Amino acid sequence: MTEGSSRSKFRRPQVIRTLPALTRLLAQWRARRDRIALVPTMGALHAGHLALVRGAQRRADRVIVSIFVNPAQFAPHEDLKIYPRTFAADVAALAAIKTDLVWAPSVETMYPPGFATRIVPEGPATAGLEDASRPHFFAGVATVVAKLLIQCGPDFAMFGEKDYQQLKVVTRLARDLDLRTRIVGVPTVRERDGLALSSRNVYLSAAERAAAPVLHRVLTDCAVKIAAGRPTGAVLTEGRATIAQAGFAVDYLEARHAETLAPAASPAEGPLRLLVAARIGKTRLIDNIAV
Ligand code: PAJ
Repeated sequence: MTEGSSRSKFRRPQVIRTLPALTRLLAQWRARRDRIALVPTMGALHAGHLALVRGAQRRADRVIVSIFVNPAQFAPHEDLKIYPRTFAADVAALAAIKTDLVWAPSVETMYPPGFATRIVPEGPATAGLEDASRPHFFAGVATVVAKLLIQCGPDFAMFGEKDYQQLKVVTRLARDLDLRTRIVGVPTVRERDGLALSSRNVYLSAAERAAAPVLHRVLTDCAVKIAAGRPTGAVLTEGRATIAQAGFAVDYLEARHAETLAPAASPAEGPLRLLVAARIGKTRLIDNIAV
């Protein structure tokens, strides 16, 4: 492919796997004063990821999508080995919408021998939601996201509201480390029946998939009732029971302050967010909604 074709609408993004090559390309973009947006992903791209890419395109001249299945955010018993890896299809999907660069470092590039630094976030990362079931998780996310933001130095970085606690952790991290990147949250993309798109939905059996929309249904129902003034505690207890009846083991269904993630019982205490995590079969699903 020649340089000249690099501006046409449907072209394969450049794939870079090493830091020196990344640094060279970024220097060219910066010399042109291009605004850069980064979309961090672990691949297995779906329409939710592509909504982040579109948001990035609206804000920036250059879009980087990173694809890196980050071992540091998986516990030994979690799904690192079987996490879906669909690199060729991911690059093809990104070629169909404008993406300039796929940053796809190896594990050795991200964590070379002797690597010994970890960022352990507090605040929203210790809210007692995802961190309660996955104590290792946000240190793994914070460390890799900090590295990606430092490597790419983007003006914007896009994160899905689907992983709401992660969005708040990363927003705090960028502020606390004086990174120049603006963190942008993007609304959750859903199936027609309300199920939030997730790379892990492929793990669901047909029966589990049929049960899964209950999460969004209960969130919506609870949000309406809480906004109408019904007592939050009772509404959430009912919601947990409905989710359990559908065959899920509920990790949490909680109302939190939408910014700090501190426990909050009523809309009078500030904007509320309802967050849920539940397991069905071998799959753990999360979702959330504004009240
Ligand atoms: P991953 O699960 O691949 O998600 C990448 C980004 O896509 C995240 O910001 C996530 O919130 C967003 N996303 C996922 N499903 C979405 C949906 N249905 N609608 C909108 N956005 C959605 O999250 C991670 O990877 C990793 O933890 C990462 C941030 C890349 C660090 O390793």
